[in-house]
Amino acid sequence: MKKFTSVKDIPSIEKALATAFEVKNSKFGFQHLGKNKTMVLVFFNSSLRTRLSTQKAAQNMGMNTMVMNVNEDSWQLESEMGVVMDGKNAEHLREAIPVIGKYCDVIGVRAFAKFENREDDYAEKILSQFVQYAGVPVVSMEAATRHPLQSFADLVTIEEHKKVEKPKVVLTWAPHPRALPQAVPNSFVEWMRETDYELVVTHPKGYELAPEFMGDVQVEYDQKKAFEGADFIYAKNWASYTDYGQILSKDMSWTVDEAKMALTNDAKFMHCLPVRRNMVVSDGVIDSPNSIVVEQAYNREITAQAVLKMILENA
Ligand code: CP
Repeated sequence: MKKFTSVKDIPSIEKALATAFEVKNSKFGFQHLGKNKTMVLVFFNSSLRTRLSTQKAAQNMGMNTMVMNVNEDSWQLESEMGVVMDGKNAEHLREAIPVIGKYCDVIGVRAFAKFENREDDYAEKILSQFVQYAGVPVVSMEAATRHPLQSFADLVTIEEHKKVEKPKVVLTWAPHPRALPQAVPNSFVEWMRETDYELVVTHPKGYELAPEFMGDVQVEYDQKKAFEGADFIYAKNWASYTDYGQILSKDMSWTVDEAKMALTNDAKFMHCLPVRRNMVVSDGVIDSPNSIVVEQAYNREITAQAVLKMILENA
């Protein structure tokens, strides 16, 4: 595997899952693959889980790690080509990326949607320059349109908890005070479509995800109806794609609460975290035994390690 930016980069779902369970059973059993190798983690945006889990995963693989926060540790970086650099940005990605690539064997990069222009965000202007100019494999640690490390961990978590072969998985929009990117829901849908699970997406009108991610996935605008018989409830807020980056609703009747969870097939509750309690989900649901958000976050370490193993084996 030469890069990890979406589900399309893995050899297959079966191989990815097998690798994840292999490293979960032997976290320190593959250190020969990473010996004397280095991963640089470049963050244009904040993180708790991705930063710690990816760094830990690389260390589990025997790698050295370096972390750079672009807005604090380095020169401010320009991403547009052809501009006169007379502003605050002192260095262009075109030089910075290959230089970083000279110091390491794998680069992880996090660069969120900016919500200034939908075409720019959906063209993945920063991630695509890393892939083009790094000279080493690139792992997306969440880009403008996808969060594949999260989705891979979500898949492993569902596989570990499913009680039926083809569980009903419901992705539900939930209210939030700020405009959040579509990367997590886009990516979740993209990975779930590679499985034979029953996937239902529920959200208020105006929150339709990009057609290239949704394909023919079922949308149910009645949240309670969507929850009926569900085995997994995955809550997430996202801003509008059609009215790009706008908050169209903060309707608290979409908060996941105990009454709605009672409509499900004793569903497990999932969220990628961080989560706004009593906006996205009630305390009662996230504190219940059916909440698997911490296990889900733990699987971030496992799946980041699986990704690194697949990359290092091909190096
Ligand atoms: N879920 C996730 O990516 O968390 P962080 O933003 O804290 O890394």
